[in-house]
Amino acid sequence: MAKTNAIPNLITIAALDNTLAGLREDYKRATLDRADTGSDPLLFFRNWLDEALAAQVPEPNAMTLATVDVSGQPHARIVLLKGLEDGQFVFYTNYESHKAAEISENGRVALVFFWPELERQVRIEGLIAKVSAEMSEAYFAVRPRRSQLGAWASPQSREVTGREVLEERFQEAESRFEGVASVPRPTHWGGYGVTAHLMEFWQGRRSRMHDRIVFRKTDGGWEPVRLAP
Ligand SMILES: Cc1cc2nc3c(=O)[nH]c(=O)nc-3n(C[C@H](O)[C@H](O)[C@H](O)COP(=O)(O)O)c2cc1C
Repeated sequence: MAKTNAIPNLITIAALDNTLAGLREDYKRATLDRADTGSDPLLFFRNWLDEALAAQVPEPNAMTLATVDVSGQPHARIVLLKGLEDGQFVFYTNYESHKAAEISENGRVALVFFWPELERQVRIEGLIAKVSAEMSEAYFAVRPRRSQLGAWASPQSREVTGREVLEERFQEAESRFEGVASVPRPTHWGGYGVTAHLMEFWQGRRSRMHDRIVFRKTDGGWEPVRLAP
């Protein structure tokens, strides 16, 4: 397939800037009030996720995960929510990746969901920890075989000299497990769970007067407040 690596010239960039400046969405689908959310933000999150699923939002479980390294530099990337277990937001990844290194140094993370079709954002802040090996095994076992082989083949976040290195590593994994009915989980692959201490629900409204309800965890439970947009 042809590659499109052309660098846009200045005129194109100026035109693009105008286009960006002109992009304007007025949100008007819904409203959000304290009376709607109830007192348990995890339950309310489930409702919104169900609505995102029902609305067939593309990748409704995609969430931005932000981590912070020892120098204070934040790093963000998308991962997929694979479960809400015991109030934890669970995703799976490589325990030798950059994110894993950052998490081992600093357990404070943030998550963001954006469901444009519903004009909704959810922000989560909390503490992260590995899920049990049993839980990772259980999820690894239901992944498609080629994804399982990918977990063996990809040294996530490490520099590779070319695509062919990855193809070779994938073929090696295929040969290694040929005839093996169930590919075992590599110990460097597993889940993390985020326990929230802050959850914010954002509903887009007209004229940038959006609704924001934030829940903060206290000793006695969750305390909701409304924030200005
Ligand atoms: C839609 C989407 C879903 C993704 N899901 C995951 C995931 O569940 N787990 C994962 O490790 N990486 C996932 N990635 C890739 C990550 O964004 C990221 O590139 C990778 O985890 C390496 O991040 P790191 O080098 O910061 O550790 C996904 C990317 C996209 C665009």
